[in-house]
Amino acid sequence: MNSLVQDGRKAAERVGLKSDTIVINGGRPLRGTIDVRGAKNLVTKAMVASLLGDTTSTLRDVPDISDVHVVASLLEIHGVKITGSAATGVLQLDPANVASAKSAEIDALSGSSRIPILFCGPLLHRLGHAFIPDLGGCRIGDRPIDFHLDALRAFGAVVDKLPSGINITAPNGLRGANIELPYPSVGATEQVLLTGVRAMGTTELKNAAIEPEIMDLIAVLQKMGAIISVEPNRTILIEGVESLEGYNHRALFDRNEAASWASAALATGGSIFTTGAKQSEMMTFLNVFRKIGGAFDIEEEGIRFYHPGGDLKPVVIETDVHPGFMTDWQQPLIVALTQAHGTSIVHETVYENRFGFVDALVKMGANVEVHKDGLADPNRRVPRRPLEQAAVITGPTKLHGAELEVPDLRGGFSHLIAALTADGRSSVSNVGLIARGYGDFVGKLEKLGADFYFAE
Ligand code: EPU
Repeated sequence: MNSLVQDGRKAAERVGLKSDTIVINGGRPLRGTIDVRGAKNLVTKAMVASLLGDTTSTLRDVPDISDVHVVASLLEIHGVKITGSAATGVLQLDPANVASAKSAEIDALSGSSRIPILFCGPLLHRLGHAFIPDLGGCRIGDRPIDFHLDALRAFGAVVDKLPSGINITAPNGLRGANIELPYPSVGATEQVLLTGVRAMGTTELKNAAIEPEIMDLIAVLQKMGAIISVEPNRTILIEGVESLEGYNHRALFDRNEAASWASAALATGGSIFTTGAKQSEMMTFLNVFRKIGGAFDIEEEGIRFYHPGGDLKPVVIETDVHPGFMTDWQQPLIVALTQAHGTSIVHETVYENRFGFVDALVKMGANVEVHKDGLADPNRRVPRRPLEQAAVITGPTKLHGAELEVPDLRGGFSHLIAALTADGRSSVSNVGLIARGYGDFVGKLEKLGADFYFAE
């Protein structure tokens, strides 16, 4: 069994999926209402932040996704007592007895999430050392951690790379630092926040990421007693404090999940009300959705995304850091673009390998060409990037059913949408990987009237 399938199986088990393959009879518009809970990319970090408090934290709107189960297990083996459940959406995290975990226990969870790297700062503050196993996460390029390790060193940590993982100590404690990131990395910004809040003195972080999930993490840390200010020009100032309390927080909604279901509504010609979605964090997506010919109603309770009839139009997109168009939005939207009349171009500038999923679309009849070295396009809003690749999608093309294997989280959701859009039957295997980041996607497909069943 390859490691991708192993990861998928583990993720499926964690959330209790019946099997790892579903068979979909496509061609039906998805219609109905679904709940969007807290963002995977905030909830998992807020859970780690609980390690920094002296008292219990309460996190609400937690999604029942495999990444939350992985982080919960990692926290538990470090002595955090967790009550409540992802199923009910509320977790209480009590860090009173934080202790070192055995490396074998950490190892057993390794390969399934990249979050362990964010345990470093909190564990260094609590215990004086941290061990980080091999990092997993989606296979969407090399995804190095050099910015994280450089930031930790700037705080005074000593980093030892071992064959089994990374051992980090802080023999002289952690002191505030002046750090400038080479790129506004989401994870490295979180690393600096989670480490700087209790480091001695002031930390200045330049070229920080300012995604809404980062702002929500700052809100969590402020509730805990931290002093953090977001200054103009991507600069964050942190004044270290001696101690922090637990927090009580309702997580920001998952804008990646909302955009994914929006793309499913557009591709299948349906209408989906995403309860909990909000306009302000999705403005960039909403503009593109409208330009393609999709429609939306913004209501107090959420956003309805629908296909209003008529032809979809092509679009040119460049993924970017916030407030640009998120890299996580491009995969689901590309499926809808296969149904637009004309040629669309998606420039991926954040990751070096995030178009692997399009092979499956091509197999289903889509016309998509990937340019691994990007395209020379004089009308670019952002300059060409070193990592850049481009996908050129010409539509509309009818999609037909096929056998698909989920390659990663967002690519996997795109496969689901493609199978739901296609005429005929598709079988989608390794759907456990989708459970890494989409809470109750099976129940939601049922609610939206999808015609599917689990393979034996
Ligand atoms: N990078 C480095 N060195 C580092 C860190 C990052 O070169 O030390 C590079 C990466 O290789 C990548 C770029 O910087 O090319 C951006 O990476 P970033 O650190 O911003 O991303 P991340 O923190 O690893 C988070 C989300 C991703 C999301 C990105 C961008 C989590 C757990 N993951 O990743 O989410 O795509 O930010 O917004 O928060 C997903 O949800 O499917 C997903 C992949």
